[in-house]
Amino acid sequence: MCGIFGYIGKREALPFILEGLKKLEYRGYDSAGVSTIQHGKIFLNKSCGKIARLEEVLEARPIGGSIGIGHTRWATHGKPSDENSHPHSDCSDQITVVHNGIIENYLELRRQLAEEGHKFTSATDTEVIAHLIEKYFKETGSLETAVRKTLNAIDGSYALGVISEHEPDKLIAARKGSPLLIGIEEDETFIASDISALIKYTSRVIYLNDYELAVITENDIVIKDRDGKTLKKNISFISWDPESAEKCGYTHFMLKEIHEQPNAIRKTIEGRISAESANIHFDELNLTEKEIKNINRVVFTACGTSWHAALVGEYLIEQMVKLPAEVEYAAEFRYRHPVIDDKTLVIAISQSGETADTLAAAWEAKSLGAKVISICNVVGSTLARDSHGVIYTQAGPEIGVASTKAFTTQLSVIYLLTLLLARTKGTLTGAEIKNYIHDLIELPGKIEQVLAREHEIEKIAQKYYLSNNALFLGRGKGFPIALEGALKLKEISYIHAEGYPAAEMKHGPIALIDQNMPVVVLAMTGKRYEKILGNIEEVKARGGQVIAIANEGDNYIQEKADEVFYLPKSPIAVSPILAVIPLQLLAYYIAVKRGCHIDQPRNLAKSVTVE
Ligand code: M6R
Repeated sequence: MCGIFGYIGKREALPFILEGLKKLEYRGYDSAGVSTIQHGKIFLNKSCGKIARLEEVLEARPIGGSIGIGHTRWATHGKPSDENSHPHSDCSDQITVVHNGIIENYLELRRQLAEEGHKFTSATDTEVIAHLIEKYFKETGSLETAVRKTLNAIDGSYALGVISEHEPDKLIAARKGSPLLIGIEEDETFIASDISALIKYTSRVIYLNDYELAVITENDIVIKDRDGKTLKKNISFISWDPESAEKCGYTHFMLKEIHEQPNAIRKTIEGRISAESANIHFDELNLTEKEIKNINRVVFTACGTSWHAALVGEYLIEQMVKLPAEVEYAAEFRYRHPVIDDKTLVIAISQSGETADTLAAAWEAKSLGAKVISICNVVGSTLARDSHGVIYTQAGPEIGVASTKAFTTQLSVIYLLTLLLARTKGTLTGAEIKNYIHDLIELPGKIEQVLAREHEIEKIAQKYYLSNNALFLGRGKGFPIALEGALKLKEISYIHAEGYPAAEMKHGPIALIDQNMPVVVLAMTGKRYEKILGNIEEVKARGGQVIAIANEGDNYIQEKADEVFYLPKSPIAVSPILAVIPLQLLAYYIAVKRGCHIDQPRNLAKSVTVE
């Protein structure tokens, strides 16, 4: 939520900042701004709207300088407007600040500062930071000390970038609870909210930890802890290919990412499995055989799409490992005194690894003595670093706000982790595990077959894109996929959509069904196929329009449904990963036909780093 990008070096800062902000725009896109220092003077331009709007403003009033900070906003305090856009300034316009996070005690601080004579121009929580730095600079004459004193005065979360005319050769960065990275190149340094904005410029980064503050000059980076003690930090290397953060000819990142799924799954499983020996290995899992044998319960925690992945995990763990498994919304889990202990394995799932509620849930679980394993896509993210063990999905950067390849790679990891637990606990035989591994290896090829027929989905989208509502039904592992299909549709097309276990339809949602209600039914063959057919009959009897996702060879379903999309035959345990692909495409093509902002849907942000 909110993206920060900063530059200090020998070249003009503005092009770097704008390019960096564009890469971060998926984190928030209701307003944007930049501030630079040129010849010792601060310059600032900001505007409501997307970065393209800021570029127009900058064309009319260009700003120069080789040091600067920029911000793309997802509003929390104060509506999107020019005044509420970042960077924010102090009374004398000599200090500018960009901030991601929430200052919880800002009202009290604002009142105190106003009483002391500070003039506020926005409704944001962030502006108090600029005024506090102003106040403490007056007292101490040091920008670094002023920022440190400010950080001690504020409660809440922040990633910060600060520049000032008082010390025009410095960029100060700090973090607590919101991500911030420092990218290093010869003669230039960058700060950014995430890796995707940096990979074009460098592969060397330093992850700032909570309560760390960096003082960056053209030739030096000094990182200190909250007491001002200098720290020695490791430089990490990013392996993501810069192309992976570009559209590469696709109209939208979402479509590109849908198409990347076969290879993303291949990368996620490669090097971790041996179909011959039924062996599964995760480098950073950090769980011994003894610890696995000790586990008597699995609790998944996550938000949004990652929560749907967890629901599939619940089915898999119960079925294959024979352990009780539960799924908790991270935001609920963190506050409800969960009953867990050192025999509970908590699996926290997050694409970004920065979702505030998921982080808090993982910390809560750790404090209660559970082993916490995270499934993350972003290497070095807070969740990955704060868990006992981590399994990285190898999806590469996911830029589209609607999660697609992160979901299917999460499912692939959960599937393999389940097999690993089952092998260690002895609930599956070696031969069974070999078969399951084989099914996963075959899956990317089947996804490619589905993607090759995306025109069929586009045709279905053409017929239904003007609908106002949609229902998604599934049973068993098809139920979480119904939820995910509904979430994809609602978040990018703004059609009201609900996912339900098919049997629940009779208990209420059936009242909604009429000729204007498309009902997407996951009707793959399996144990509950007959029951799903029964649900389709119930929809048809009330005039509903049925779009069935079925297995190839099922000619019978054509007589029942209005539309059928056939999936290549696949074993039931991997079928959720395959079945979600047509639903992602359906949401995509419906949203395109409705003229929606596919990669940046309204009101959303990719990474929800606030509660
Ligand atoms: O980064 P995370 O996986 O923790 O994000 C969780 C949700 O915010 C995310 O999955 C969200 O629901 C997506 N927009 C769904 O497409």
